[in-house]
Amino acid sequence: MPFYIERGEIPDKRHITFKKENGELYREELFSTHGFSNIYSNKYHHNMPSKVVRVEPYTVTHGTPWDPELLVNYKIDTKRSDGKGNFFTARKKQTYNADVAIYTAKVTEETNEFYRNAYADEVIFVHEGEGTLYSEYGTLEIKKWDYLIIPKGTTYQLKFTQYDNVRLFVVESFSMVTIPKNYRTETGQMLETAPYCERDIRCPELQPAIVEKGEFPLVIKYGDRYQKTILQWHPFDLVGWDGAVYPWAFNIQDFAPIVGKIHLPPTIHLVFTANNFVMCNFVPRLFDFHPESIPAPYYHSNIDSDEVLYYVDGDFMSRTGIEAGSLTLHPKGVPHGPQPGKTEASIGTKETFEYAVMVDTFAPLKLTDNFKKCMDKDYNQSWLED
Ligand SMILES: [Fe+2]
Repeated sequence: MPFYIERGEIPDKRHITFKKENGELYREELFSTHGFSNIYSNKYHHNMPSKVVRVEPYTVTHGTPWDPELLVNYKIDTKRSDGKGNFFTARKKQTYNADVAIYTAKVTEETNEFYRNAYADEVIFVHEGEGTLYSEYGTLEIKKWDYLIIPKGTTYQLKFTQYDNVRLFVVESFSMVTIPKNYRTETGQMLETAPYCERDIRCPELQPAIVEKGEFPLVIKYGDRYQKTILQWHPFDLVGWDGAVYPWAFNIQDFAPIVGKIHLPPTIHLVFTANNFVMCNFVPRLFDFHPESIPAPYYHSNIDSDEVLYYVDGDFMSRTGIEAGSLTLHPKGVPHGPQPGKTEASIGTKETFEYAVMVDTFAPLKLTDNFKKCMDKDYNQSWLED
């Protein structure tokens, strides 16, 4: 989505004849969003992408709803819900609403199945692991701590170099995930004042078209339902494409944080936006430089947001008992902030080395049995004095 690019061979104009050496037509596929009113790509296939041999049932269970009697501040250790599976079957749904679903996954195995999320964009934060994203648009190297932003409808696979410790934090968005508007000019270029820019964004490199006939299993996710569609031709058969819809990668370490003289709100940590929720990230940065500044955050009631924070690495200055893979959920209605001693301890400190990813939703979040299994039952009382 970031900007227009082109890859491989494309004809001079859209929707004109474009022929292979043998005189046959390449098959143009317009991949458009919001009807025909938003960004799009034009893809040129060796074969019709609609050649389906058959469709089969397919089941993946990501978790079941859990409705707690009382709402409190929550902390969970997501590793407690670890299971087995590939890059899409291993996902454990932790919390969700109508706009967004948040999963954690320990990926233990590779699959040769192709995967497509038909209803949602995906932001996959690669907490642990490295490898390659394969897609119809080309390949992208996967590095540790990458965000992989995958538009809905993209056919792709993730393959990791090893499966000892591959961990993903996955955000499924039922609206388009975009770069915040306030980071871009009216015509789309990223502003000089934005904390990241086009040079930080990695786009797919098209590989030679795979022109193979056979049976190619494509697992399609429709909300909570799945089905397996057997394609007659390998889906990565593009000779070229152009446009603004494609998967891309951005590494959290390339986020250049904005710092202030006194504490700035999380708005400055914004990394992606979507309808009814935002994503922020916390990265190593110098603290506020007023001589009497308090670097730890104030207690806050952001009454329009449920706040999910996923802890990635480093020292989490405002929280106790937090490790990489911990996740906190602070629902609207109850203020939260540093635990006892943390505010005082932050005074005079010059910098922080924390990495964390945050999802702030404007509609209330619901929980799952995975979340219940991972809960730290003492967290809600952790602000009380000993
Ligand atoms: Fe907060």
